Amino acid sequence: MTVLYDNIGELVTNDPAQGDGSLLGLVRDAAMVVDDDRIAWVGPKGKAPAAEQRVDCGNASVIPGFVDSHAHLVFAGDRAAEFAARMSGAAYDGGGIATTVSATRAASERELSDNVDRLVGELLRSGVTTFETKSGYGLTVADEVRALDIAGRTTAETTFLGAHVVPAEYRDRRDDYVGLVAGDMLMACAPRARWIDVFCDRGAFDVDEARTILLAGADAGLGLRMHASQLAAGPGIKLAVELGAASVDHCTYADDGDLEALAASNTVATLLPGAEFSTRATWPDGRRFVEAGVSIALATDCNPGTSYTTSMPFCIAMAVRDMHLTPQRRCEQPPRAGRPPCAATTWECSRPACGRTSSGSMHPHTFTWPTGPECPSSTTWCNPALPRNESRSNSDE
Ligand code: NIG
Ligand code: FE
Repeated sequence: MTVLYDNIGELVTNDPAQGDGSLLGLVRDAAMVVDDDRIAWVGPKGKAPAAEQRVDCGNASVIPGFVDSHAHLVFAGDRAAEFAARMSGAAYDGGGIATTVSATRAASERELSDNVDRLVGELLRSGVTTFETKSGYGLTVADEVRALDIAGRTTAETTFLGAHVVPAEYRDRRDDYVGLVAGDMLMACAPRARWIDVFCDRGAFDVDEARTILLAGADAGLGLRMHASQLAAGPGIKLAVELGAASVDHCTYADDGDLEALAASNTVATLLPGAEFSTRATWPDGRRFVEAGVSIALATDCNPGTSYTTSMPFCIAMAVRDMHLTPQRRCEQPPRAGRPPCAATTWECSRPACGRTSSGSMHPHTFTWPTGPECPSSTTWCNPALPRNESRSNSDE
């Protein structure tokens, strides 16, 4: 089935060989033909080849789907009381993770899976076409396995986060828990995950524990990611660089040395504005990362404790308003060769340069490319220059 998407005000192709020659590859007054799950043709409107169906885009912008490279979708319960306490001055210290762990362990598989489906539906409707999700609210072998099984039914980008925090029952024997995560839990979870992640921060795991767990994960064939420097400055970011992690996420307290190390590496710094918003933390200055030459990504960090949102547009708006990123540019530098696919989401902002810059919210006439399993062409932009993300919609490429 061929469909002509006609009368597009601006089409973002992400192919510098197209249109205005910018990194966005912006084609104005465009049209696009999709043949089943492939984009078959793009060019000026009025010049498109015949197609079986025609959709009038009403002069809207058409942009590629968003990639949400960091989310924690497998959980039960809510943390509204904790949020209210923070808004009255309490600080976030990660302690509330235990609340979600209890609720998640107590929930049925059906409840967890329904909640994931609800959140995935929200992601897809808000324009996300590829997303990652983590375990990390089970923290027993069986509960982590269950979380990854549920996650794996919705995305290929699954991450084992047994090292989220040390659960209460291991409080006085944390070495045993590190051993479990790097041992039996990893063995059970590795076949169900593509990535391993460790929360390396004040009150979570220290740098030596993180190294032990990540090296074990690498031995088991998993790609590396980290949560680091969300709560305090520390050695986590440099560890991510040293181990060649695909990404290090949060980076709220990244110092100049961290930025220098990141800039010389293939590790992407993922900024998570939803977490700063919801915890009233200090905003990291995204512009500082960009100027230092660091590749950055934005993601929702969707979770019940620190960032209960599935909205990439909202996260982009915050990144523009409060992290000083520009709305027009998709990326500051081309993805580097050798970067793992899911980390190739060096998005400063996916909003097209529409020429009517506003204070940073998504432009009202932005038309997000249709998403979801019923529209598998959503992420398939055939640009050989860019690494591809694997997802349900394009993993057969
Ligand atoms: O990315 N920082 C660690 N993990 C989550 C929050 C977990 C929670 O509070 O439930 C995050 O912000
Ligand atoms: Fe997170």
